Amino acid sequence: MADVDAHSLPLDPTSAEQLAAENLEYALVANDGPGFEVFHSAVSRGFLDGEPTTEQIADSRVALSPRRLTGVFDRDAIHPEVPVGTVDSWVTELTSEPGRTVPVWAISGVTVAPTHRRRGIARAMLTGELRTAADAGFALAGLTVSEATIYGRWGFGPAVFTSDLTIDTRRVQWTGRRPQGRLDFLSQDELPDALAALHERTRRQRPGEAAGWPGLWRRMSGLRPGDDDARKVRAVAYRRTGEPDGILVYSVAEKGEDGSRQELRIRGLFTADDDAYAALWRFAIEHDLVGTVVATLQPADSPIRWMLSDHRAVRETRTDHHWLRILDVPRALGIRSYAAPLDLAVRVEDPLGFAEGTWRVAVGEDGNATVTPTEDAPEVTLGASALASILLGGVRPDALATAGGIDGDAVSVAALTRAFAPAVTPVLSIWY
Ligand SMILES: CC(C)(COP(=O)(O)OP(=O)(O)OC[C@H]1O[C@@H](n2cnc3c(N)ncnc32)[C@H](O)[C@@H]1OP(=O)(O)O)[C@@H](O)C(=O)NCCC(=O)NCCS
Repeated sequence: MADVDAHSLPLDPTSAEQLAAENLEYALVANDGPGFEVFHSAVSRGFLDGEPTTEQIADSRVALSPRRLTGVFDRDAIHPEVPVGTVDSWVTELTSEPGRTVPVWAISGVTVAPTHRRRGIARAMLTGELRTAADAGFALAGLTVSEATIYGRWGFGPAVFTSDLTIDTRRVQWTGRRPQGRLDFLSQDELPDALAALHERTRRQRPGEAAGWPGLWRRMSGLRPGDDDARKVRAVAYRRTGEPDGILVYSVAEKGEDGSRQELRIRGLFTADDDAYAALWRFAIEHDLVGTVVATLQPADSPIRWMLSDHRAVRETRTDHHWLRILDVPRALGIRSYAAPLDLAVRVEDPLGFAEGTWRVAVGEDGNATVTPTEDAPEVTLGASALASILLGGVRPDALATAGGIDGDAVSVAALTRAFAPAVTPVLSIWY
């Protein structure tokens, strides 16, 4: 599966038919062809960005080359060559538990022209992606989202939550460990390769992480054209000997009149171990002339507050980040081991059909799950979206049950909660 070439997969005929009934054309767009420029321009417009420059288009052509680009076209438009709907997709790797990865159909770049909104174009594109992925044998699709209101209707569930942190550094002293390794600045030019290497080394440690790609590391390093903050990007590496065990990428922005209280914004923080984590956070927290440190995409159980003298100096906003969609229940539940034995008849409701059914979920003493269709009366009932949310252990089943997202008696829900508890809290430290 991981070796499936996204470009080789055919267009979904059902979506093509649905769109044709609306006089719209569903078509693949070649990355190296003339259609790429207008495709990229449509994506920029969809995300409310400016018109891309020639340099940005050339850069994106390279960055997006592994992706399958699909457009929806209105051939009666004044500019019929510009897609009114866009989506791109590729094969990525999800860490399902420490040391284990599974292929996932990654989806991004979903836009619909404001002139064509709410006519079912996004629905046709998303359901088309799901059928394409399921037909190619993927058990899971995934995405990160700009709005939390869109994808639940297609069976995606928020599976990994992250924290955005704002830390008032004037209120705190460092109380955490003080590792003995060294800190050195990295130049912007050497940063993408260093980030790629470190992320490759570390992304299998935590469930929820996904593979990166060269364009992502260039963007984080401020090296993609059109980045207004490009010249402000700094990076520090922590290491003992040899390769970095941690890299902090940041920029500093002036905040108000007081030059001694500037804002240090973390663009990326990747660490292989606790020492690197502590050393790089300490660097940020104790930075001279800085009064606030802002970081996004931190683990929901972020340890940083335990390394500071004042918990209340840390303001934390928890946000849904990594959304998953289950396309094959037995295989999706087989991507991880479980924390406690389980034997439950679980009904999964899925109007799109992929996960629909009643399944006996049996987890033995070894923690491995066997999932088979069953005729037994369900003890627990949940939607495909809720099952995706609990899959990696990022959401507690008993919390969803309280909210009405899981229906079952208290004993069954408690058993589900014990079994799905994660060995490590999931995180996803990048956008994709
Ligand atoms: C979000 C977007 C892709 C939706 O496209 P669309 O073609 O208008 O959506 P559809 O007509 O297929 O709508 C399908 C369903 O989603 C709902 N929906 C669409 N956009 C929504 C939004 N922003 N918030 C909540 N619900 C939304 C519709 O109401 C419809 O609901 P229903 O099935 O219950 O009737 C489009 O508005 C857009 O391009 N927005 C800007 C870019 C963006 O945010 N992309 C998402 C990136 S993660």
